[in-house]
Amino acid sequence: MKINTAEFIISNSEVAKCPQDFLPEYAFIGRSNVGKSSLINMLTNHKNLAKTSGRPGKTQLINHFKINNNWFLVDLPGYGYAKVSKKTKSVFQQFITDYFETREQLVCAFVLIDIRHEAQNIDIEFMSYMGESEIPFCIIFTKADKISKVKIDSHIAAYKKQMFANNWEEMPHYFVTSATEQTGKDDVLNYIDEVNQEVFKNNNQF
Ligand code: GTP
Ligand code: MG
Repeated sequence: MKINTAEFIISNSEVAKCPQDFLPEYAFIGRSNVGKSSLINMLTNHKNLAKTSGRPGKTQLINHFKINNNWFLVDLPGYGYAKVSKKTKSVFQQFITDYFETREQLVCAFVLIDIRHEAQNIDIEFMSYMGESEIPFCIIFTKADKISKVKIDSHIAAYKKQMFANNWEEMPHYFVTSATEQTGKDDVLNYIDEVNQEVFKNNNQF
């Protein structure tokens, strides 16, 4: 899929204030600093559409970007950032869960995982929450430029093992990406394109 236009629409902390347009929506979620905002910039061919930072906790609101006037990408705050105060943290968690539980336009979430690390409890717990809430999601492994191809394969194999050990019957659909090297871009965009075609055909709400 070709990206012709990518526009920032609105940032907010209240799901009720998110855009009312009934367009298919894809959300990026994962630990702080995993590369959510960078991936959005890579997918849309922009340097600074979504704000990025080397310091965790950069994205603090729900950010909507309208793509090709036809669907939304949503940049979300990271979870699991220990340095945010308890109060801020619980507010994050509340509006993130509100978003996932009420946003009817959400057709798929991408859970981002840093490919360098072994499975972390917080990610496994978040994916279990998604599974229990019946929210469709895929995994996107990020920062693939930071390790060798051989390590990429072995880390994914280890990840699958850990998912099965945590009672997952199958590995969710996954992608391997690098925002710096633009790897995995077509795979993710083509996937979104396929899902869009399906929902426009089969879901009368869109
Ligand atoms: P929060 O908004 O704080 O939750 O972070 P985020 O998940 O949006 O991460 P962000 O995109 O801001 O990136 C965090 C850091 O990782 C930045 O320093 C990025 O330059 C770096 N980064 C992101 N993606 C990649 C990648 O694919 N490769 C490399 N080498 N660095 C990356
Ligand atoms: Mg961010």
